[in-house]
Amino acid sequence: MTSLCYILLPIVVIIGLLRKCRERSWGRCKDTSNLQDRVFLVTGANSGIGKETVRELVRRNAKVIMACRDMESARNCIAEIRTKIPTGEMIPMELDLASLLSIHKFAERVLQDFPEIHGLINNAGVYVPLKNRTSTRDGFEIHFGVNHLGHFLLTNLLLDRMKRSAPSRIVIVTSKLMESGVIDFSNLNGEKGLPSKGRMNPAYCNSKLANAYFTTELARRLENTGVNVYMVCPGFTYTGLFRNVKRRWFHYIIFSPVALLFLRTAHQGAQTVLHCATDAGLSNESGLLYRDCNLYASKRTLRPEVAQKLWDISASLTGVHSSK
Ligand SMILES: NC(=O)c1ccc[n+]([C@@H]2O[C@H](COP(=O)([O-])OP(=O)(O)OC[C@H]3O[C@@H](n4cnc5c(N)ncnc54)[C@H](OP(=O)(O)O)[C@@H]3O)[C@@H](O)[C@H]2O)c1
Repeated sequence: MTSLCYILLPIVVIIGLLRKCRERSWGRCKDTSNLQDRVFLVTGANSGIGKETVRELVRRNAKVIMACRDMESARNCIAEIRTKIPTGEMIPMELDLASLLSIHKFAERVLQDFPEIHGLINNAGVYVPLKNRTSTRDGFEIHFGVNHLGHFLLTNLLLDRMKRSAPSRIVIVTSKLMESGVIDFSNLNGEKGLPSKGRMNPAYCNSKLANAYFTTELARRLENTGVNVYMVCPGFTYTGLFRNVKRRWFHYIIFSPVALLFLRTAHQGAQTVLHCATDAGLSNESGLLYRDCNLYASKRTLRPEVAQKLWDISASLTGVHSSK
């Protein structure tokens, strides 16, 4: 027993020290200015990175529309935040990004109730095992439908309000996993099956690449409007995102040293989102990717013609009418 302690203790100390070093490189949103009278809309606001984003926004006095599909969970989240933070305002509103009808109803209510929106944070996301073959209510493959099309429609419905509220910002939460994604226009919905290149779910990676293409094309269309667009990779973060993935007991044993070294808390994962949504010192250059509260040069080149074509197809699938 004592000799086991002699072996384990130094390992734990080394992992702890390495984690501390890594944490320093993850960055922190340094802007703590008062956000009174600023209105933010956060999708998927009831858990993980979204919830931590809301917590920090209201700490700084912002008004936050919490777009959630589960109202009870949203109310529990508000109650929890309120035990520590009395400032700001949280308004829970029902939004199911897997339903075009729900998105229309939600946007209608938002436009009715909020004359200004200064920050739209497209954070909600799903990661579902492919074998489940899950679709949205409108028949889109779940990752393409929720992570990309749902946010595409929502953003377009709120775009004029964002322009009227300028200077305003749109933050699109993507992932470094977009680098393994593919935009195959003949297979956007996975009709022909989704071949996996790595261990990660290809439909999820594709949807995160679609998020990146959406960002670049949106930024191009919003030039000189006072609405800036940023995409964010929050980093590998401990949240409920992988709740549908079944793991065996030995995965936890193999995975725990990796998790201790690389896995961020939801609070740490929210930092780059907050940085892009609120930091006054952020560059006005739109359409770029941020990670660790810094600009991030992705290995993935985003081709403008693909971005434009994806926009046109997404517009026709969701019924969005928009000029070039
Ligand atoms: N965690 C990571 O390592 C990581 C890494 C890179 C990027 N990201 C991205 O970070 C974002 C936030 O994810 P997270 O890690 O914080 O995971 P999470 O805790 O599972 O949060 C995802 C949120 O999205 C909501 N959501 C899912 N489907 C929805 C729908 N149809 N309509 C409305 N809301 C819906 C969830 O609501 P319910 O609670 O009702 O399910 C939840 O609030 C995602 O875009 C994800 O792709 C995460």
